[in-house]
Amino acid sequence: MCGIFAYLNYLIPKKREEILELLVNGLKRLEYRGYDSAGVAVDSAASKDISIIKKTGKVALLEEEIKSRSNELDVSGTVETHCGIAHTRWATHGIPNEVNSHPQRSDPRNGFVVVHNGIITNYKAVQTFLEKKGHVFESETDTEIIAKLIYHFHEQHPNYSFRELVENVVQQLEGAFALCFKSKYFPGECVATRRGSPLLVGIKTATRLATDHIPILYGKEDPPPSPAAEADSNPEHRPHGRGEFPTLPRTGSTSEFEPLEDKQVEYFFASDASAVIEHTNRVIYFEDDDVAAVKNGSLSIHRVRRGGDDPHKREITTLKMELQQIMKGNYDFFMQKEIFEQPESVINTMRGRMNFENGTVTLGGIKEYIPEIKRCRRLMLIGCGTSYHSAVATRQLLEELTELPVMVELASDFLDRTTPVFRDDVCFFISQSGETADTLMALRYCKLRGALIIGITNTVGSSICRESHCGVHINAGPEIGVASTKAYTSQFISLVMFALVMSEDRLSLRQRRQEIITGLKNLQHQIGEVLKLDNKVKLLAEDLYKKKSLLIMGRGFNFATCLEGALKVKELTYMHSEGIMAGELKHGPLALVDETMPVLMIVMRDPVYNKCMNALQQVTARSGKPILICEEGDQETMSYCQKSLEVPKTVDCLQGILTVIPMQLLSFHIAVLKGCNVDCPRNLAKSVTVE
Ligand code: M6R
Repeated sequence: MCGIFAYLNYLIPKKREEILELLVNGLKRLEYRGYDSAGVAVDSAASKDISIIKKTGKVALLEEEIKSRSNELDVSGTVETHCGIAHTRWATHGIPNEVNSHPQRSDPRNGFVVVHNGIITNYKAVQTFLEKKGHVFESETDTEIIAKLIYHFHEQHPNYSFRELVENVVQQLEGAFALCFKSKYFPGECVATRRGSPLLVGIKTATRLATDHIPILYGKEDPPPSPAAEADSNPEHRPHGRGEFPTLPRTGSTSEFEPLEDKQVEYFFASDASAVIEHTNRVIYFEDDDVAAVKNGSLSIHRVRRGGDDPHKREITTLKMELQQIMKGNYDFFMQKEIFEQPESVINTMRGRMNFENGTVTLGGIKEYIPEIKRCRRLMLIGCGTSYHSAVATRQLLEELTELPVMVELASDFLDRTTPVFRDDVCFFISQSGETADTLMALRYCKLRGALIIGITNTVGSSICRESHCGVHINAGPEIGVASTKAYTSQFISLVMFALVMSEDRLSLRQRRQEIITGLKNLQHQIGEVLKLDNKVKLLAEDLYKKKSLLIMGRGFNFATCLEGALKVKELTYMHSEGIMAGELKHGPLALVDETMPVLMIVMRDPVYNKCMNALQQVTARSGKPILICEEGDQETMSYCQKSLEVPKTVDCLQGILTVIPMQLLSFHIAVLKGCNVDCPRNLAKSVTVE
């Protein structure tokens, strides 16, 4: 998904070269989100204009382009106060090329430039309006209307401040966006805003900040109705059919603002903290409709409308994340590092929550809500991709330990069906990033209907965190590889801990709970054992990487591993793979099986062992040669197969944590052998912030 990075230095002399390096480096930190082109905008050396440099492809190509233009950009020159904006684009409107890349500009002289994450849904109506006013569009993007609209307002209202112009622009936009603006008319200033797409600012000062929050400044009156909003319901009212967009009443000069007291200051705007953390750990996460402006080195946050329960300030958060946490360390790929981090990440998920001595579990983030949750009508677990699979993996245990109906839903399908939701439902939204648009939309849908909203996320300060009533941070640490690995096992454990909390006073479940708690205690060591299979898995990958397809079969507690394993294989290796419920074999998939079809089967000594063996025999009877994932030392089962991977035994409901790791390793090794981009698979993004 697209990434935004902007840097503003105030009264801190910097060489242009340093600024450009800083911007490019910021983009590199965002590369993991997935993108297809990149660009930057900085003040031009020769004139008061803005230089825009854009390139299709990787950030490294943009870097080369900047180097090749170092004379023109006067990279050795120094600027004391400067704002630069940068972007990685993941194409939504228009193919990936330089014209469609960001920054997008208002006019050939680059009066206003903007970078945008998200989608503007009413861009056609605004474009038609602007074309009638004489604006000529050069790109196929929805973003260009933003640059041209601000220019239009500036021409109409030359006295408006930069921030007021942006406020007027966002009144006319529909859809999801995070935006960062720069203008040659407002040198050294930056304005940023968001709605439905994450954005934060890092603040760096020489001395400690004199404040721990920024007060919110509100508009004096409600804005006039947005013609863009009306346009949807009544085509007659499209703005291009009428004179002008109404503008907001002016909200006053900068003297209203309460600036930060430090004089020299640097600001780092970014779509996520990984681009900021190496510069500062002091950040403010913006809320929807915040308009943040930096002028004369002071940051102000303004809101046009006074929200219902909106607080009157934005706290400055101190990030605990270390840069090394987001670096590759000794590994070649982030994904590989993240797979091998799982012995620690599962401990971090349980830290401070599991008391193995006395067998108690405390989830501080939802503790107060437990009585309400126990009275609910049903539990709904909602997510996308891997996060959805963690719900599939834990559903059976949740049903067993809570004795409540448990629905597991893909967020997109859940919304398509306009599923009935009630006040006494408890809805879990599972998301590594906390920003997945489908999941966030489903959350809002359920919240509107009065359900209790519980977020299960890995990203502190994310939209899902903020919009949930309560939640559990999975604490897996930053996950950079697009393919989710350690987040899955941590989501899994978080949901298991929730099931344990829900059943703490059930005498009849005491023994079951105790075996699960013991299983959790042993997990770190057992994951370490599974990781030792790495070389063996690599050999299997060598047999498989030229094949066209891989079927992964299992049932019961290990069915989720089949789905998750197949997703990993598809996304990383571009090879067809399907997770098959072994009980369904006879209902169709068995027709695929012959001596050439690669099949992997998960057969553990759990309550569905006999049924799995039945499936195994059906496959071998059709000349299938399955690779087996089975329990350590299970010679009898292994005698049916030529190749097997043995994993340590744990309690049935946790076994999926140990069986998924060989699948993560297998997909990783196949991807490496095929020369695929492991950390950024084609066409995919880490954080999917569009529906
Ligand atoms: O950030 P989320 O957990 O909400 O993301 C959901 C999916 O996009 C994500 O799990 C995706 O399926 C992964 N790339 C799979 O490895």
